[in-house]
Amino acid sequence: MVRRDLRTKTQGLSSKTQYPIPKTQNLRPKTLLVTGGAGFIGSNFIHYIITEHSDWEITNLDKLTYAGNLENLQDIENNPRYRFIKGDIADRKLVGALFSGEYFAANSLTPNTQDLRPNIVVNFAAESHVDRSILDASPFIETNIKGTQVLLEAARTHWLGSKTQDPTSNTQDLRPNIFLQVSTDEVYGSTEGKFSEESPLSPNSPYSASKTAADLLCHAYWKTYHLPVIVTRCSNNLGPFQFPEKLIPLAITNALENKPIPIYGDGLNVRDWIYVLDHCRALDLVLQKGKPGEIYNIAANQEKTNLELIHRLLDVMDKPQSLIKFVADRPGHDRRYALDITKITRELGWQPIYSFGGALTATVNWYLDHESWWRQIKSGDYAKYYDRMYSHR
Ligand code: NAD
Ligand code: DAU
Repeated sequence: MVRRDLRTKTQGLSSKTQYPIPKTQNLRPKTLLVTGGAGFIGSNFIHYIITEHSDWEITNLDKLTYAGNLENLQDIENNPRYRFIKGDIADRKLVGALFSGEYFAANSLTPNTQDLRPNIVVNFAAESHVDRSILDASPFIETNIKGTQVLLEAARTHWLGSKTQDPTSNTQDLRPNIFLQVSTDEVYGSTEGKFSEESPLSPNSPYSASKTAADLLCHAYWKTYHLPVIVTRCSNNLGPFQFPEKLIPLAITNALENKPIPIYGDGLNVRDWIYVLDHCRALDLVLQKGKPGEIYNIAANQEKTNLELIHRLLDVMDKPQSLIKFVADRPGHDRRYALDITKITRELGWQPIYSFGGALTATVNWYLDHESWWRQIKSGDYAKYYDRMYSHR
């Protein structure tokens, strides 16, 4: 059933050898607290940073919800520059102990008396699936809003103490700390044009409303306390380790099992796809060169309707188009997302380097090569979720 010859269709990308990654200048050593690092983008980001920056330390705080998977990080679990802590970003006591350093000392995690207190936070931790937020918004409020506020407050307490930084001084190259909030293009809502960082926010789902609240809390902590916060808003990612509830991995794994691929509504909703490593490259650059208090859109200008995307995917996989099954639409389904990326391109010199075709083929190859990874997920609680979402749709 699984076609090994798919690799012949690869357009310059292979799922094993990764890609030519341009070097970014390493400005200062960093001690990162990465939250949600066992999920899709977080695990890709940790791999990227470990490879790119030989003097950066990473602590990964992840609650291991259904979407968190330590298998994603198995190859680096013994790396001395990486450590994993199972915990909730909304746990004020735990987060406080990480910022104060008490947690590391109490758990003998500082063998060389290294100071592992974070000077950088990269907040990926979130409930991330729109459909699940429509079934039950509560965990989205807890993690995406309250969790972000707990992190912001700990950063404020431990980084600023009773002081505030002067936002008018040129802190760009001297700043010791950055709180990077990984937000989303969904905060802007649906559009017929393109959203810039100045566009009004108009979220439509419980997921995007919770991400918008977190995004605005970051703004408030910058304005009120001068906490050095940067917000990034990225479009739809594709790549390895994505949980198969999302369209692309759901479609790939269903196609591999010759099961129908559910397309919501008329299939003409548009998403702008970016390879996950391009997102990671952008976040790395933002950490090094981004300005506190700023927002950066990240996208690759690769818009596709869902139908176009699935036609292309089935073609790459050499599977019949008849696997497509139109099903009832997602309530409140945003028609189109599109971002203007002039700011990050002009100010930081970032641009995407992976083509959509190459990224799609590399992603298909990864799922082909990691069958036990997704089969294990699909045979667990996921089966109940899938049945609830799709069996009577
Ligand atoms: P994901 O669902 O794959 O991973 C989320 C991770 O967060 C999981 O490992 C989970 O265990 C962890 N987590 C959840 N609640 C937690 C809590 N309370 N405390 C600690 N850890 C917790 O998500 P993803 O697709 O990798 O997205 C990561 C971030 O990027 C999210 O903030 C999302 O909003 C944002 N984002 C995603 C995309 C995309 O296309 N996937 C695009 C733009 C922005
Ligand atoms: O735009 C960034 C966002 O992209 C992130 O903030 C979210 O965390 C991430 O989940 C993603 O949200 P989407 O809702 O766009 O992604 P999803 O893969 O769920 O759906 C992509 C499109 O495909 C969307 O128009 C809905 C549609 N769809 C999705 C599923 C799961 C289907 O037609 N059928 C499906 O079974």
